[in-house]
Amino acid sequence: ISLKPYNTFGIDVLAKHFVEVDNLDELRAVLALKTYPNKLILGGGSNMLLTKNQDALVIHVNIKGIFIISEDENTVTVKANAGENWHEFVLWCLQHDFGGVENLSLIPGNVGTAPIQNIGAYGVELKDTFVACEGLSVETNEIKSFSKSDCDFGYRNSIFKQHAKGKYVITNVTFKLSKKAHKLNIIYGSIKTQLEAMGITNPTIKEVSKAVIAIRESKLPNPKEIGNSGSFFKNPVISKAEYNALIENFPEIPSYTVSENEIKIPAGWLIEKAGFKGKRFGDYGVHKKQALVLVNYGNAKGLDILNLSKLIQNTITRLFGISIEAEVNIL
Ligand code: EPU
Repeated sequence: ISLKPYNTFGIDVLAKHFVEVDNLDELRAVLALKTYPNKLILGGGSNMLLTKNQDALVIHVNIKGIFIISEDENTVTVKANAGENWHEFVLWCLQHDFGGVENLSLIPGNVGTAPIQNIGAYGVELKDTFVACEGLSVETNEIKSFSKSDCDFGYRNSIFKQHAKGKYVITNVTFKLSKKAHKLNIIYGSIKTQLEAMGITNPTIKEVSKAVIAIRESKLPNPKEIGNSGSFFKNPVISKAEYNALIENFPEIPSYTVSENEIKIPAGWLIEKAGFKGKRFGDYGVHKKQALVLVNYGNAKGLDILNLSKLIQNTITRLFGISIEAEVNIL
């Protein structure tokens, strides 16, 4: 079957073998199939670039369900199954007035894949509300529980991108959310500005979500209209010494302090400065409103987008001496 409807980049490649699983028993049975040694786990398909037809058995994890596990006066513990759409989960939280994930509104993808790259936006990361997740071991077919510290979350990073990569299928995620006295995170510049523009001074979590949605809609292409995987690259983190050398030539370069000796540079700025913003090559290119996003205007091939990403990486290294790393999984 064509995987086009299953990846937000909208790349048309074929899967030789494809199965959708709706519950844990089905997932267990499918993972145990010895006839298909290679398996590819597919969630929301929002963080991948498919560059070729897939020979592996593609397993679409579609296990649904959101449950309240426990609550006290101020907090609630909620478990969501892997196949829930992330944004629908956020909306469910907002409907119940549960706070903590409102800044993560409108992020494409599913709950089960959110921990892999520790999704984050507008000053909040998944890890801030994460309590634990469960994963089915590909090797032993047994469920393993991962605490927050087990996951070793970092910027767009976790053990599921490092030594545990490909070893577990995350089946559910547990979050701790606030029920009242929500701690809003609105220090991020553009949220403040957006709330002001909306005439809101004392926002609710629903209003913060609305502001985030408005910002995202103004910058990021809707994958239903223009294929994309959000930020194609990670923002590079460089040393203070590298930064000092860089501002000699580019005094206007924006930056965020990560730690005493680490500075993060927005890759979008580097790509824009290198002249790629809004560039279109046939059916693919660089988004015109956010240079960190590569786009498929219709029938782009994954390899075309991969080659463009390499051209961008090489140009950035040549111009700035900085290497930028893809955030998206290349398959
Ligand atoms: N910038 C430019 N030109 C551009 C884009 C950005 O100069 O075309 C510069 C501007 O200085 C701007 C700064 O970069 O102020 C930051 O831009 P933005 O707020 O759009 O954020 P970002 O660093 O480009 C990151 C995340 C996004 C997340 C936003 C908001 C990564 C790789 N990306 O982007 O996440 O939504 O911050 O928090 O960290 C994603 O991961 O798919 C994603 C969209």
